[in-house]
Amino acid sequence: MNYRIAKGVFDLLPTDELAWRESHLWHYLEKVIYELASQYGFREIRTPLFETTELFRRSIGTTSDIVKKEMYTFEDRAGRSITLRPEGTAPVLRAFIEKHLEQQAPIQKFFYIYPMFRYERQQAGRYRQHHQFGVEAIGSSSPLQDVEVIHLLWTFYERLGLKNLTLQLNSIGSKESRLRYKERLKAFLKPHISSLSQESQERYETNPFRILDSKAEQDRTILREAPLILDSLSEKERENFEQICSLLEEASIPFVRAPYLVRGLDYYTNTVFEVTSKQLGAQNSLGGGGRYDGLIHELGGPDLPAIGFGTGLERILQTLLAQNAPLPPKPAPTLFFIPLGQPAEKKCFALTCQLRQEGLDVELDMTGKRLKAAMRYADATGAKFVAVIGEDELESGQLSLKEMATGTTQTISIERLADAIRTNT
Ligand code: HAM
Repeated sequence: MNYRIAKGVFDLLPTDELAWRESHLWHYLEKVIYELASQYGFREIRTPLFETTELFRRSIGTTSDIVKKEMYTFEDRAGRSITLRPEGTAPVLRAFIEKHLEQQAPIQKFFYIYPMFRYERQQAGRYRQHHQFGVEAIGSSSPLQDVEVIHLLWTFYERLGLKNLTLQLNSIGSKESRLRYKERLKAFLKPHISSLSQESQERYETNPFRILDSKAEQDRTILREAPLILDSLSEKERENFEQICSLLEEASIPFVRAPYLVRGLDYYTNTVFEVTSKQLGAQNSLGGGGRYDGLIHELGGPDLPAIGFGTGLERILQTLLAQNAPLPPKPAPTLFFIPLGQPAEKKCFALTCQLRQEGLDVELDMTGKRLKAAMRYADATGAKFVAVIGEDELESGQLSLKEMATGTTQTISIERLADAIRTNT
């Protein structure tokens, strides 16, 4: 029996035919995330991989694509309905409410790096397990909080060296404003129903709001004349949105107003945003988020405002590679020992342990192959230096250190090996 990987998922390996699946690049992203999150005062939260299904149904919304057709839901042995987390916001809120975290501090800022599970149609940039860096800031309704969260996302992309990104920004107002708008939108679309795409026709009754998000050409043509949600916002909501826009301008974060941006999860209120990259083709969303002010209360917690984002690590790495952004090299040993014979093996093993203890990345050949084959293997690991130790070296206490990139060798005493490497790296 040949076992194959399940559809829509992938392995991360030290070396892979697709560079974005190489694990060292994921470490790099994670390192940047940890540094950045700490600078912005976000602390890490790790919730379980699965939650009760109702949590996601209630928060993401029963008319959303995720809940309707994409969740990995199963019954556990006791007959409870369990779902693999399709997104990160609801689990954070569940933990926040359950542990009464509002009692700890007035504002709490979390970040996470999680795999997410969505049963999606497989295509480039869309996977059944994807990974998100997400943040959730709970407790403040200040426009400054919106801007801080967006600033963090934008800075993350900048630090990685991503270019040609577009930040789209919109406000979809409160629930009340949206209800008002929904009626106006439905009245506008009514005479056009039969010309809408099949998907939008279905959404007309269940979730007309999402029609705004449609990519279908015929829908886009009709929508050109559609009423704008911004016109249905209350004065306070509009003012709030303008404040966010001017704060972003002051922070020199370029953005475009995107009057039709609504996003795919039902919990959003007021600010919504999305960052896209042309390099990504159809699945062009690199990250997105928004406010969800009523959600904590709806889930049984205190009535606290909140805002967050999620950004997909697969798509980020794919964009970085497509843009030839600077990325760290694959890790390689600084020194590779090739012992010839048993006494040399023992000595090399002791030296390897000692040098590792001193902080160097050292590899010891254990293939037992002849010198030429061992050299080839050392080269394949990307080692910077190779030291061959046999009887002569053991006797003289001297070895020749070969620098692989140049092919040059120098003779040094075994005792001085660590120093010699340090001065040459
Ligand atoms: P989302 O827009 O569903 O938002 O996902 C965020 C990001 O995850 C997307 O922009 C995309 O980069 C990536 N992504 C989503 N689905 C896939 C997939 N199937 N394959 C590859 N990448 C994918 C959320 O999940 C919200 N929880 C974000 C949020 C946090 N809003 C407020 N707080």
